[in-house]
Amino acid sequence: MIRTLERMTTMFRISRTMLTAALAGAAAVSGLAPLAGAQGPQDQSIVTVLNETYNKFRSLQEGKNADYIPALAAVDPNIFGIALVTTDGKVYTAGDIKSEVSIQSISKVFTLAKVIEEGGPEAIENTIGVDATGMRFNSIVSVEFSQKTLGGPEMNSLVNPGAIATTSMVKGGTRDQVWNTILSYYSDFAGRPLAVNQEVFKSEAETNQRNQAIGALMYAYGYIKSNPQQATDVYTEQCSVNVNAKDLATMAATLANGGKNPVSKKQAMSTKNVPYVLAVMATAGLYDDTGKWLYHTGLPAKSGVGGGIIAVAPGKFGIAVISPPLDDAGNSVKAQRAIAEIVQRLNANPYAVQPR
Ligand code: DON
Repeated sequence: MIRTLERMTTMFRISRTMLTAALAGAAAVSGLAPLAGAQGPQDQSIVTVLNETYNKFRSLQEGKNADYIPALAAVDPNIFGIALVTTDGKVYTAGDIKSEVSIQSISKVFTLAKVIEEGGPEAIENTIGVDATGMRFNSIVSVEFSQKTLGGPEMNSLVNPGAIATTSMVKGGTRDQVWNTILSYYSDFAGRPLAVNQEVFKSEAETNQRNQAIGALMYAYGYIKSNPQQATDVYTEQCSVNVNAKDLATMAATLANGGKNPVSKKQAMSTKNVPYVLAVMATAGLYDDTGKWLYHTGLPAKSGVGGGIIAVAPGKFGIAVISPPLDDAGNSVKAQRAIAEIVQRLNANPYAVQPR
């Protein structure tokens, strides 16, 4: 294809950009499939499903921005963006994919991945646990229940107590080293250098007394080995990383693609550890509503109070939707509805198979 383009540019003495534009225009007029880009032609059925889903839910007015972190209450509730990245590196989008929101709890997935990479899957299973708590994401009762009634590591890294403890396990001598490790790890999944939303970080750091208490409690019970204040602070900063829908979808697609970013082609994590991360997402990704979510989609997913949700169709694609208004469990209303619709229309529920 490239060689043909080169010959034609020489033949007609025009630039490759002009020729590509001319051919794309001709294809549009003739009704042919769009010209193949660097990653090949887009699948028109995915384009249609994304556009129709966007139009179906764009005026849905349910839910409310998180406001226990003051800066999140001020985020535009009308941001609505959908992105889907396939494991062969094609990017599909609908709506607003430029606006960035803080990643919030979706970050927990990638810190969990980092700790599994550093210490192996047992590093999490034997210390924090990999079971659903069935309680809210910032429940203190869940810590007490796990400790006093269940007598062991019966939490997971995707609820606040387990997440703060997981962050405390990331290796690094100083706070800066730990932080740089986390931020560059997230950036590998997104395929671009991510940055912190300083306003959200400041706002949450000033109002996160409950998480500080959770950090102290996790230290008291030995889940955090040292410096619970630092663990909570780094955790708060990781939640403040800014992302758009395409970043999130690429991060999800990297998990869908055995840990290799399908766009940048960088191996962000080892393939053998991906199933452990996806299992915890399937168990606890949408907190106490994870069962309902799995019932309708069959996909491991993770939500954040910034309004994002990612879902992973292993071997197929990663998808993300951003829309800040949340339901009572803390999950974006529109993101849940849009992803469930797309998964159903693209037949991506792995439990839904046709008999042979
Ligand atoms: O620690 C918190 O409360 C927030 N930084 C993150 C919570 C969150 O995203 C829960 N998500 N649905």
